[in-house]
Amino acid sequence: MKYKRILLKLSGESLMGDKAFGIDNNRLSIYAEQIKEIRAAGVQVAIVIGGGNIFRGVQAEEGGMDRTHGDYMGMLATMINSMALQAALESVGVQTRLQSAIEMKEISEPFVRRKAVRHLEKGRVVIFGAGTGNPFFTTDSAASLRAIEVNAEVILKGTRVDGIYTADPEKNPDATKYDSISFDDVYRKGLNVMDMTAFTLCKENNLPIIVFDMDTPGNLIKVLNGEEVGTIVRN
Ligand code: GTP
Repeated sequence: MKYKRILLKLSGESLMGDKAFGIDNNRLSIYAEQIKEIRAAGVQVAIVIGGGNIFRGVQAEEGGMDRTHGDYMGMLATMINSMALQAALESVGVQTRLQSAIEMKEISEPFVRRKAVRHLEKGRVVIFGAGTGNPFFTTDSAASLRAIEVNAEVILKGTRVDGIYTADPEKNPDATKYDSISFDDVYRKGLNVMDMTAFTLCKENNLPIIVFDMDTPGNLIKVLNGEEVGTIVRN
């Protein structure tokens, strides 16, 4: 395998599958099977999942709610997704531990970096819930932060598109995909990979990001095999 320890970032929206809201069990099991496959190959896996299928902090602000309040609700949404993913993984025999950035001791361990690292070394999939525990930070920022904290070698950002394009491929048919691009070029060209906080954290800590299509079964193991799937962003 190309990487020994990875952080997989999954979007909440993609958990919806074809539904308009919530969690699609079929999509959940596609994810669980793919994660099982890379675990079986010996890769140490940490996961951060978003909450946009349930609640988004920015939407709350549009409705007149305080942004901070909405962000905390969004963090709770990530915990629902994290628990769903944990159950899906355990149902296919993958050992997991869930750690939350906000203490919820009845349902999750608290985030303790050294314990998380130990779990990874023992081959458990560690899911980090509740984002960074702070408002104004996205789950992409949580993914970058946790990846750096546990010394992951790369962030794998699973999305619906199969990489980074010169323009939005859904709007511009001439758009072409990058196999590899530098952090500086992403910034110069104004391409959208992650929000700037998350992006800068990766760049400054020399942590590459691979953007790839996680909804196609088998893609995750291909990335780990070093096949040219998706787009890699690096210094
Ligand atoms: P090692 O000691 O490294 O083998 O790790 P371990 O996770 O097996 O040991 P531990 O005794 O810490 O945890 C046993 C189980 O309890 C695991 O499923 C943990 O996720 C869970 N657990 C540990 N701490 C907490 C907590 O604060 N809250 C909740 N809800 N579960 C916890």
